[in-house]
Amino acid sequence: MTARKPYYVTTPIYYVNDRPHVGHCYSTMVADCLARFHRLDGRDVFFLTGTDEHAEKVVASASERGVTPLEWADRNAAEFKRAFGDLGFTNDDFIRTTEARHTEKVRAYIERLMEVGAVELGDYEGWFDPSQEEYVTESAAREHEYKSPITGRDLVKRTEKNYFFNLPDYADRLLAHIESNPGFIQPDARRNEIVARIKGGLQRVPVSRAVKPGDADWGITMPGDDGHRVYVWIDALFNYLSTVDTPEREKYWPADTHVIAKDILWFHAVIWPCMLMALDRPLPGRVYAHSFWIREGRKMSKSLGNFIDMPTIDAYRAAFGDDALRWYLLTQGPLGATDADFAHERFVEVYNADLANGIGNAASRVGNMIAKYFDGRCPEPTGKNPDAKRVVDAAEASLERARQAMDGARLGEALGAGLAVSNEVDVFINATSPFKLAKDPARMGEVGDILYTCAEALRIAAILLTPAMPRTMGALLGNLGQAPVTEASSIADLCAWGGLTAGTPIVKGEALFPRADPDADPPAPASSEAAAT
Ligand code: ME8
Ligand code: MG
Repeated sequence: MTARKPYYVTTPIYYVNDRPHVGHCYSTMVADCLARFHRLDGRDVFFLTGTDEHAEKVVASASERGVTPLEWADRNAAEFKRAFGDLGFTNDDFIRTTEARHTEKVRAYIERLMEVGAVELGDYEGWFDPSQEEYVTESAAREHEYKSPITGRDLVKRTEKNYFFNLPDYADRLLAHIESNPGFIQPDARRNEIVARIKGGLQRVPVSRAVKPGDADWGITMPGDDGHRVYVWIDALFNYLSTVDTPEREKYWPADTHVIAKDILWFHAVIWPCMLMALDRPLPGRVYAHSFWIREGRKMSKSLGNFIDMPTIDAYRAAFGDDALRWYLLTQGPLGATDADFAHERFVEVYNADLANGIGNAASRVGNMIAKYFDGRCPEPTGKNPDAKRVVDAAEASLERARQAMDGARLGEALGAGLAVSNEVDVFINATSPFKLAKDPARMGEVGDILYTCAEALRIAAILLTPAMPRTMGALLGNLGQAPVTEASSIADLCAWGGLTAGTPIVKGEALFPRADPDADPPAPASSEAAAT
């Protein structure tokens, strides 16, 4: 372990009334990529994901299927675990909000909020959105004709005696925090929306719901009042803290990055930090709210039945490989403020350009030439080629760019920096033509120098791209006679020029990314579960 501060990254905890789909996989993959990068960069990483189980809609979907809410939650939590396991995600824990280690802590946090006067009993009447498990303000309800602004389903009027969190008490402190920490809410466009909304005025937030006769025994009861249960959103937000609020893990708090999408930003950027302020706990470093995946130009929805579900994801994995899917999602995904389209044609285009004709081709050219001219042994660098400096500089600049971009959770930029190193290899080969020089035995020293530079640059590219494509980049490192890496004291050390030693056996290996036919049909899922979700 090193002296650098630990790195704690989280995903939303997903509702268990649905099966996982590409959206859930994407947020978790982004966090996985950040976690993998920071492990390479000397950080003691804690990466958390999990499931949000106490929603009222879990009770409804369980009863439709004639099972208990817990049975239904167990079944779907297992689906999420399986999906994330199949995708090779490296989460350090998986929290389920029905676990005692969470529920006990939530009661203690709420008790504390009551003690400090941040949570109090009061009356509430408002528009409730059952499809989102949240209250909608009067003006938002009116504006959307009393339908859910998110799902379009009917809102219902609810009157309750509830416990409330006095959110307005924290508005000034929150605004000051957001203004002095511009990275706190990202991307910028999202921060601006949140700031405007806070300035528009805050209201108390219900933190409980009254238990009605006949209600299922589902949800955490309020401390000291069995007549109320903790509102599911409040329960859920606490997962980020409860999971690490133990003597062994307290070093991880505050979280560095909460990865979420824009649909749940208000809870994470406003309610959550204010609750933490009331509890006198440090605030997370960043709330990163990405946008949505759509599919072939259309919003994914249950009514269209067009979710990219696990069978579809598995079909892409089988056809192109796990890392090709990771590359597409991570580099083409909706990390910024606009939605991203999952389009098959684009998938193949990106795959061929970046992977098959990009790093895959550069790796096979270099492997081929080293096999042919140097008997599969890494040649000696002479340091005499004037153009090699460009490659060395490009590798150094890419490392710096990748580090800065990863710090800002700008994955596309960070991964582009890694790919740029392998593009530089192609440019260098084209400029120096080692295959022509090799015809003259007197120039083999020069050829060796060029190929050393290429192989070393590929080693560095493979390291920078490992967080996105751990399997294929591990294989590329293996071809270069290097061990795959998952942890290191710093990525700068790993990428320091000259890591490759002359004489190391280098093999050509199998094609990392065989070219894809752009005219072939999209891979077909074994059986679509779209209708069942
Ligand atoms: O909101 N594109 O859970 P949820 C990209 N339990 N990401 C998407 C997506 C899409 N089309 N659809 C969903 C909840 N997501 C609460 C969260 S956290 C304390 C509680 C991802 O199952 C994205 O991360 O509805 C989004 O924020 C999340 O799934 C919502 O998952
Ligand atoms: Mg949702």
